[in-house]
Amino acid sequence: MPARPASPSRRQFLKHSLALSAGVALSAASHRRVLGANSRLRVASIGTGGKGWSDLTATAASNRVQVVALCDIDESKAHLGQAAEKYPDAQKYTDFRKLLDQAGTFDAVIVSTPDHMHAPISLPAMQLGKHVQCQKPLTHTVHEARQMRLAAQKAKVVTQMGNQIQSHEAYRTATKLVHDGVIGKVREVHSWQSGAMGWILVDDRPAGTEPVPAHVHWDEWLGVAPTRPWLPKIYHSFNWRAWQDFSNGQLGDFGCHILDPVFTALKLTAPLSVTAKAPAINREIWYRESTVSYVFPATEHTVGPTLPVTWYDGAGRMPDRKALGLAENHPLPGSGSILLGEKGSLVIPHVAMPQLLPVEKFADYKIEVVPARDHYTSWAHACLGDDHATSNFDYSGPLTETVLLGTIAIRNPQTTLKWDSAKLELTGAPGAQALLTKPYRKGWEPKWV
Ligand SMILES: NC(=O)c1ccc[n+]([C@@H]2O[C@H](COP(=O)([O-])OP(=O)(O)OC[C@H]3O[C@@H](n4cnc5c(N)ncnc54)[C@H](O)[C@@H]3O)[C@@H](O)[C@H]2O)c1
Repeated sequence: MPARPASPSRRQFLKHSLALSAGVALSAASHRRVLGANSRLRVASIGTGGKGWSDLTATAASNRVQVVALCDIDESKAHLGQAAEKYPDAQKYTDFRKLLDQAGTFDAVIVSTPDHMHAPISLPAMQLGKHVQCQKPLTHTVHEARQMRLAAQKAKVVTQMGNQIQSHEAYRTATKLVHDGVIGKVREVHSWQSGAMGWILVDDRPAGTEPVPAHVHWDEWLGVAPTRPWLPKIYHSFNWRAWQDFSNGQLGDFGCHILDPVFTALKLTAPLSVTAKAPAINREIWYRESTVSYVFPATEHTVGPTLPVTWYDGAGRMPDRKALGLAENHPLPGSGSILLGEKGSLVIPHVAMPQLLPVEKFADYKIEVVPARDHYTSWAHACLGDDHATSNFDYSGPLTETVLLGTIAIRNPQTTLKWDSAKLELTGAPGAQALLTKPYRKGWEPKWV
């Protein structure tokens, strides 16, 4: 429970939590179907276009999965249309609340909407006892990420964040190299995403509006966010990433992928502090480049009392090779991480097999490849009691909290923010604590755990 949530007020929040703890226990238990070896998992997909299409089809690749419901705010071919064609027997919805009203018809949901709707859809689903697979970053705010973890624990459901590269052989192999002690204990990490942003680059909210196309349900797309007029190609689809109301910029988009093997390999949980170097921004758009420095407490895989982890993003931005002890022309991947250890360094490209440095020292070292797992069907089979989900919310909740703390630092640049994870307290800048959460549109407020 947050120490001082800015919105809703602490009183409302506590009222919510108390009212809910009674209701949730009842509804979660009464809606969960007992699934066994011979059952098929009845899956509902929410957000069927974009990444949702591959989330849905990859999960449904298991013959133990039955797609029973599809929900998308856009009824056109590229969104609800193609999914409806592929799964003609599934029920169709344009409003997730109507789908959740039919709780008896499905066992699990896949949530692949823009980020601002991840928690508002996943929380009530878990409160109904449904298993959840949700895209990355898990949530739009730190407070929501903590709530997702608590809700999953309370409802005892199977969860998975959609950072599918965690299950790729490259990330799994990198993690094992660190656990095997090949580079010794790690003293420093640098992670970067040096590609240009793929979404619209604007400086402020454009004026004006246009008629909403008949196939788009704009109010449902906005969901918990404050209303704003429809404009084509500015928000839906994909370009919502440019805006603070719906996304968390470049770090939000890539952090849960690129920092994931760093988290897994070093068994990180919560940082102690976070400091960003970034240009000032208004309250609408995200920045175009940033450097975010985290300090983590030591773990069994690190050396020294604390571990510095530095994130770089923006076109062409990556750590200075000289500072890493590398030659000026040493090739580094366009995005990834380097872990500097006592016995050597490990480069973890996003996404390719890891490399050990110095090259000469490890020339004869044969890297043992760890086979991939299926990120999607392993979750589905875990819901049926037959496998486990590696990026469950106990893991992906803290990873997402860390990523999103970085985005709060970006909005309070050149200031060190101190994080007390147990108390959910962020200090060091007057507005930082309030940014752990956000206001919710009236009538759309999530029910907190
Ligand atoms: N894991 C990955 O590699 C990866 C890659 C791309 C995107 N993503 C994540 O997937 C999510 C979606 O990103 P995208 O690029 O596909 O976005 P998108 O805008 O292209 O697609 C989102 C889909 O959800 C639908 N939608 C929007 N709001 C909805 C709502 N309230 N209810 C139901 N449907 C709704 C849209 O109509 C669209 O079909 C994001 O969280 C993003 O970060 C992950």
